Amino acid sequence: MTLPRSVREADVAGKVVLVRSDLNVPLEDGKVADDARIRASLPTLRLLLDEGAASIRVCSHLGRPKSDEDRAKYAIEPVRARLRELLPDERITVLENTRFDAGETKNDEGFARELAEGCDLYVNDAFGSAHRAHSSTEAVAHLLPAYAGLLLLAELENLGKLLGEVERPFVIVSGGAKVEDKVGVLQNLGSRADRVVIGGKMAEDVREHNPFTFDVLLPTDVVAASAFDKDAESRVAPWDDRPDGWLGLDIGPASAKAFGEVIRSAKTVFWNGPMGVFEWPRFAEGTFAVARAVADCDGFTVVGGGDSVRAVYEAGVADDVTWISTGGGASLELLEGKELPGVAAIPC
Ligand code: 3PG
Ligand code: MG
Repeated sequence: MTLPRSVREADVAGKVVLVRSDLNVPLEDGKVADDARIRASLPTLRLLLDEGAASIRVCSHLGRPKSDEDRAKYAIEPVRARLRELLPDERITVLENTRFDAGETKNDEGFARELAEGCDLYVNDAFGSAHRAHSSTEAVAHLLPAYAGLLLLAELENLGKLLGEVERPFVIVSGGAKVEDKVGVLQNLGSRADRVVIGGKMAEDVREHNPFTFDVLLPTDVVAASAFDKDAESRVAPWDDRPDGWLGLDIGPASAKAFGEVIRSAKTVFWNGPMGVFEWPRFAEGTFAVARAVADCDGFTVVGGGDSVRAVYEAGVADDVTWISTGGGASLELLEGKELPGVAAIPC
């Protein structure tokens, strides 16, 4: 993969720099509930400060505001406050939510001009938004000298390794509910993997209709529940012998053990998507077992997608994973082999 040119090559001393970061973080009670993406944006900002940038205007979208009423809910202020706590420097300002301008998601050049106004160069560090052709990720890159930030580059390098020659065995673990989002990735990477392991809702879909040309390892047992409820009656059952009408809300212990063995003996692992409804403690063990196995693996391990990333943190094993992607949709599209508009707009 040819990488876009790095911010390290830019001459930033005395310049006004527009930085697009992905600060689209979950909020709770008007506060940032998880600041991982904010922290991931700091190395680029620190580099710009160290290199003597005169001022830095950071912009990002936050959520998917639709109406004017959404403006209070998605105002950037809590994000701005958290960024200021993490990196207090007068030279940094954080612009209001880019999606408050109707032009943003239309990749409108007028809005891009507003963003570019008074700036000398543009740095895109928003890997999580690189699959969006929006004014702040795409159009603006044609109006200013454009560079890739450190996080964007690190994401491309690490995820990109999965698209090249990998150390084997190469194991892909997939799950979650949004099956249609992941079929493309599995089709692109799956035939190059030595083992494709599928759990969660996805396993059920694959049993009904297998879209793949390669063999997949599916759960042999499930944690069955009498209803889709966190307190539902539950018991372990073979996948094909659940009580009538019961749902499989997690993989069972035998499957977790089998999946774990495959993952631990791999040299390269990509994991996207939980094994069950892990938000509910009684249906979390399969997902956490996979998280621990990925962490135990000595090879090159990559976790992408919001839910699996959260599971890795909740299982307390994040430090033992080689690369945790800040991108959900962006990481999937990259691994599907698609061009990311936010990356393509930056010269190489
Ligand atoms: C994400 O959280 O996946 C990115 O920030 C992109 O957000 P979007 O799906 O609303 O464009
Ligand atoms: Mg490890």
